[in-house]
Amino acid sequence: MSCQYIGEQLHLEQVALGDVAAAHGTPSYVYSTDQISENYRAYDNAFGARHHSICYAVKANSNIAILNLLRQLGAGFDVVSVGELERVVAAGGGDSDTVFAGVGKMRSEIERALELGISCFNVESSDELQLIDKIAGTNGTRASIAVRVNPDVDAKTHPYISTGLNENKFGIPMVDAVSVYELAAKLPNIDIVGVACHIGSQLTELAPFIAAAERVQLLLSALKEKGIEIEHVDIGGGLGISYGANEPPPIIDYVNAICRAIDPSYRLVIEPGRSIVGDAGILLTRVLFMKQTPAKLFAIVDASMTELIRPALYQAEHPIKTVIQNPQHEAQTMDIVGPVCETADFLAKNRELSVSENELLAVLDAGAYGAVMASTYNSRPRPAEILVSKSEMHLIRRRDTIESLMANEQLI
Ligand code: LLP
Repeated sequence: MSCQYIGEQLHLEQVALGDVAAAHGTPSYVYSTDQISENYRAYDNAFGARHHSICYAVKANSNIAILNLLRQLGAGFDVVSVGELERVVAAGGGDSDTVFAGVGKMRSEIERALELGISCFNVESSDELQLIDKIAGTNGTRASIAVRVNPDVDAKTHPYISTGLNENKFGIPMVDAVSVYELAAKLPNIDIVGVACHIGSQLTELAPFIAAAERVQLLLSALKEKGIEIEHVDIGGGLGISYGANEPPPIIDYVNAICRAIDPSYRLVIEPGRSIVGDAGILLTRVLFMKQTPAKLFAIVDASMTELIRPALYQAEHPIKTVIQNPQHEAQTMDIVGPVCETADFLAKNRELSVSENELLAVLDAGAYGAVMASTYNSRPRPAEILVSKSEMHLIRRRDTIESLMANEQLI
């Protein structure tokens, strides 16, 4: 990532993280414009002349300034709620290059998406398909759809973010796919445009992606035989990122593998989230206290599971660096924990670090599924978000205030 020591201080692009903390406080998320742009372009360039659309998965980081940056780079969007859709609209998108995914779309969400004229609904059941047809009919419009199929492929990732197995709630089993397309072909207000598939997130191997794409290709051939025409194949999310440990293959290898597996007559759609924003963001936090118990040394910091839940929820390990490099201090083994009243409230366990009270730390690779999963548990304000570009920093989300946390509540 574009996080590096310049002199003894950690910088994101040319912005010293100490300056960010001084200007905006901690805990805060800080993102790099350059890194996001570079990651986006890596996908775009990898497709070369192959007809494609990159629909950024808004769920990974939905800040409207980041959506706007991606829009300017040429991205479309993958949304899973009307909330995400309205964010895309606020960022200048929301029409021809937006796909609406998600296993439980609500009537009001479908209505709004039809009103905006999004490019495709990725349909997850025949009941949903019929509801979309009915709403489109009532509203005097047509709906473009892809059926999201479940290829029954083991993504070999954390079970909570694995979606392509028969036992998962996602998609329509391959065995039922053709009959759902036949139903779609009969519905008066539906246009069949694609096939969609997503097997999971944080994949660091190509084999499961290739296996899924090969099964999709078999379905494409079966649909062709039935005279059902398909324009695009949506292959779901992108590659995983390394988190300082498991290096995934280069994006170009992933894209080439998919391009090989799917007949070139189809436009390819991809919905990457993590690999666009993940390594472009850090969580900046300050050490409140050092606490030595007979069993352990703890660095108690002002960020917690309410800012970054990934370690607690998925046992995720994010690299952590001190903002000031301190080679003369001896590293010690410690847990980095937050102030929340839960034992699951840790950012890292058994890390070798040289840390003292009041010091600033950067939790790396926190740009995806960080701020978006922040909660206000323990009445903790959600953090500020800052986007840096070269030597400039821009506040792109103010920290919650205690007043804003209580704004929707009232005494009876
Ligand atoms: N498309 C669909 C249909 C998805 O369900 C997802 C992610 C994506 C695209 C984007 O996948 P990506 O390129 O980011 O791998 N909170 C978890 C990750 C949940 C992923 C959910 N779906 C985490 O922090 O690891």
